[in-house]
Amino acid sequence: MTNDDATSANNSVPDLDIPADFEMGVATSAWQIEGDLAGRGRCNWDDFADTPGKIVDGAKGDPACDHVHRLEEDLDLLAWMGVDAYSFTFSWARVIPGGVGVPSAGGLDFYDRLVDGLIARGIRPFATLFHWDTPSELEQAGGWTNRATAEAFAEYATVLADHFADRIERWATLNEPWCPSFLGYAAGYFAPGLTDGGAALSAGYHLMLGHGLAIERLRSAGAKNLGIIINVIPTVTDDPAMADATHHVDGIQNRFWLDLLGGRGIPEDLRRHCADLTDWSFVREDDFAVIAAPIDWVGENYYSVNRVVSIGDAGSAAIGQDASMFPGAPDHAFAPRPPYTDMGWEIYPPGIRWALERVSEALPGVPIYICENGAAVEEVTDDDGIHDPVRTQYLHDHIGEVLKAREEGIDVRGYNAWSLLDNLEWASGWTKKFGMIRVDPETRERTIKDSAEWYRQQLARRKA
Ligand code: FCB
Repeated sequence: MTNDDATSANNSVPDLDIPADFEMGVATSAWQIEGDLAGRGRCNWDDFADTPGKIVDGAKGDPACDHVHRLEEDLDLLAWMGVDAYSFTFSWARVIPGGVGVPSAGGLDFYDRLVDGLIARGIRPFATLFHWDTPSELEQAGGWTNRATAEAFAEYATVLADHFADRIERWATLNEPWCPSFLGYAAGYFAPGLTDGGAALSAGYHLMLGHGLAIERLRSAGAKNLGIIINVIPTVTDDPAMADATHHVDGIQNRFWLDLLGGRGIPEDLRRHCADLTDWSFVREDDFAVIAAPIDWVGENYYSVNRVVSIGDAGSAAIGQDASMFPGAPDHAFAPRPPYTDMGWEIYPPGIRWALERVSEALPGVPIYICENGAAVEEVTDDDGIHDPVRTQYLHDHIGEVLKAREEGIDVRGYNAWSLLDNLEWASGWTKKFGMIRVDPETRERTIKDSAEWYRQQLARRKA
């Protein structure tokens, strides 16, 4: 069978016509794959994982995928896949154990080998500074509710820019600040496990301040192509009685980040409706210009939609959709519609185009990259391999919608699938698998799934 055939050997999913100049990549994150706790400082997720009952299967951040010790093998898998870019994240506690002070030579050396190994294989390094793993010492001092964490983050950005500005193609300050703030400080599902809506608002604000300060530092140290990755999620309702709740959920999920980045400050309705949770005394009006520092691109991560309903109409449980994540909102619930992924997330491909439109309206003129998109799904293993047709179809349908948005004039420049490897899915541990490549939870052996083969073929076809 050749690449010209309409379908790949293992899938009945059709091929896509992806333009050759549309950047295709794959994403991972530090805590989810690296392991090697001996080579870094501890982070809030290590502490969270050590707290009984927080991670469903008791998984820990070491060995994770043992990526630190299997770097060459993983780089070779990326090269096999034929990606243009690889989106990885730095572990703050590996670069600067404790979060402030002297950088670790061993930590920088690991990322040197990663970055140089990518460049040697013709893959563009695409780095994110923070994907939720706050150094433990900083978390113990209040984490992102403490303004000092934003300032420490700027110092950390300076260390990275001084060391890597000449080699990293594109930089993101933060990945999805909504998640650590609202899943971590309001709902308690993520580290640090607090249930305090006011703390979540403060954490979200200081994350964005950290972003703005880091942009200034990165730029002045000569780093190029600076941005941030957010997760704008279509938030809708069919029930007119739920309009206010939907607006509030949209405010916390989407407008808070988009308005701060766009120089519009904090949405007035959120300020009012959350007045019982916080007095907002952490806000300094002159921060707004720092937070809205010009960026060269913005990242969007898309998985699903938020369908808001009244409590009586609550639907099947989807991980990440729960009223506790949206403090200050009038009573509400969520009702995702089938089909679902293993996370209980509704599969809704047009939502990715909606999200792109929303981001491009809110931040006009800023190019967009899809930085994560993918699915945890059921897989069947037999003598022929690991068959994950639902994942392949998901990727096909979502990439198709992204390309449609591009044809309609949205300035979307690239797509990254989540994820290269099965990995530690945060509080779900090893129980939810997003990888296009299996990682055996006992041996850490890598095995290519059908979806990886399909993705590789789509990337190869572009150059044909
Ligand atoms: C995103 C996270 C990523 C992974 C996927 C499934 O929100 O950024 O680390 O957990 O969800």
